[in-house]
Amino acid sequence: MKFHATELSSGNSSQKRLFLIAFTLIFLTIIPLYLLKNSRSPLPSHSVNISDLRSRERVKECDIFTGKWVPYLRGPYYTNATCNLIIDQQNCMKFGRPDTEFMKWRWRPEECELPFFNTVQFLGLVRGKSMAFVGDSVGRNQMQSLLCLLASVVHPVDVSHKYTSDTTYFRYWFYSDYRFTLATLWSPFLVKSCDADPSGHSLNSLMNLYLDQADKAWASQIENFDYVVISAGQWFFRPLIYYLNGQIVSCHNCNKENITAVTKYYGYRMAFRTAFRTLLRLKGFKGITFLRTFSPSHFENGAWNAGGSCPRTKPYTSEEMKLEDYNLEFYLTQVEELKKAEKEGRKRGLKFVLLATTEAMLLRPDGHPNHYGHSLHWNVTVADCVHWCLPGPIDTWNEFLLYVIKREAQRSFRGELQKIV
Ligand SMILES: *[C@@H]1O[C@H](CO)[C@@H](O)[C@H](O)[C@H]1NC(C)=O
Ligand SMILES: *[C@@H]1O[C@H](CO)[C@@H](O)[C@H](O)[C@H]1NC(C)=O
Ligand SMILES: *[C@@H]1O[C@H](CO)[C@@H](O)[C@H](O)[C@H]1NC(C)=O
Ligand SMILES: *[C@@H]1O[C@H](CO)[C@@H](O)[C@H](O)[C@H]1NC(C)=O
Repeated sequence: MKFHATELSSGNSSQKRLFLIAFTLIFLTIIPLYLLKNSRSPLPSHSVNISDLRSRERVKECDIFTGKWVPYLRGPYYTNATCNLIIDQQNCMKFGRPDTEFMKWRWRPEECELPFFNTVQFLGLVRGKSMAFVGDSVGRNQMQSLLCLLASVVHPVDVSHKYTSDTTYFRYWFYSDYRFTLATLWSPFLVKSCDADPSGHSLNSLMNLYLDQADKAWASQIENFDYVVISAGQWFFRPLIYYLNGQIVSCHNCNKENITAVTKYYGYRMAFRTAFRTLLRLKGFKGITFLRTFSPSHFENGAWNAGGSCPRTKPYTSEEMKLEDYNLEFYLTQVEELKKAEKEGRKRGLKFVLLATTEAMLLRPDGHPNHYGHSLHWNVTVADCVHWCLPGPIDTWNEFLLYVIKREAQRSFRGELQKIV
């Protein structure tokens, strides 16, 4: 039904009350934006411009995921000096990366402008809420970027010890001014897994995947989260034995004669299906699930374990690099599962939302640490062309994230308004 303002005044009192609540909600979101207008911000170019913000308050809905990288000379939102939360693995400048151009690009969608990451606006939207990044170290990489984007306004307290004893793979942060909880939950396959290689665990060892059982590491923690950003990727390239119902059904690259070999996409599809199904079935879960799509790696002149590296210093144009082969297959596979979950979710009032980062990142061979990132677990003679430098193009994922959160909030708000007329 079409919304007419006049119908509101003739509505009954419960309708009026709902309108008042909605109005108050908007008001409460806008007011802090005014109050915080002059708060600390490292770069004046990113400080809040209220009139600008108001005009964008209604985001024009467009496909933000299709576009190109354009030069942006003002550079990144933060540096390793203004954000002290960059871990060594992604602190490319600290480890001597000589070029800086990779930090000076912005994503320009074909149909509209992608709004800048507005820290105050983000915090307004997530006030009193919680957000979990579920996945592997690339998922965690996005959380690290978010920590740095927020660091211009607020600093979190590390509260991991309250929730977990494994503070390397599970991290919880609390922003007390906003009562906002941010967490990263380690689950590289999303489903239950264990080592199966007689020679032990390594980057390419054989593992068992129980495709119909969600990994408890996240599934047991997720029920009360308001936002879940879920992803999976490179781990599905390794040799894997697939189980359904406790029985071996097939494998990928396992080199066993009596097990049927299937592609890696089978395991990938089933892992997402099980993850989404788990969220759909959790009684108390009311959150919005975002699928952050496959993040391409960029090894050249050899695979990761054969001397490959990623020395480029500029993005590709979309003429130079097309989404195809396995990158496309991974992307389509997970998006198909998302679409199914979206449909199921609608019946339950649960949202499943696409965060399609694949195309943008495919064009950024220059965004990886290459040899300029250090970690305890990463042999430095092996180039890292999987993770992303901070700051760097991965900051765009959080511009996308803010955009879709805002869009979903608007859609819900419009939905509520329509219900009362
Ligand atoms: C704020 O944004 C508006 C609209 O985009 C612009 O006209 C105005 O000059 C901006 N103000 C400042 C201080 O940048
Ligand atoms: C930040 O990067 C610079 C190089 O741009 C480096 O010299 C410095 O050690 C880094 N600082 C930190 C705290 O990582
Ligand atoms: C495959 O063969 C090995 C021994 O060669 C055996 O241990 C294993 O149970 C067999 N697996 C299946 C699924 O039959
Ligand atoms: C690191 O990788 C190189 C080349 O693959 C290998 O020769 C070396 O033994 C590795 N070092 C460690 C500590 O694993």
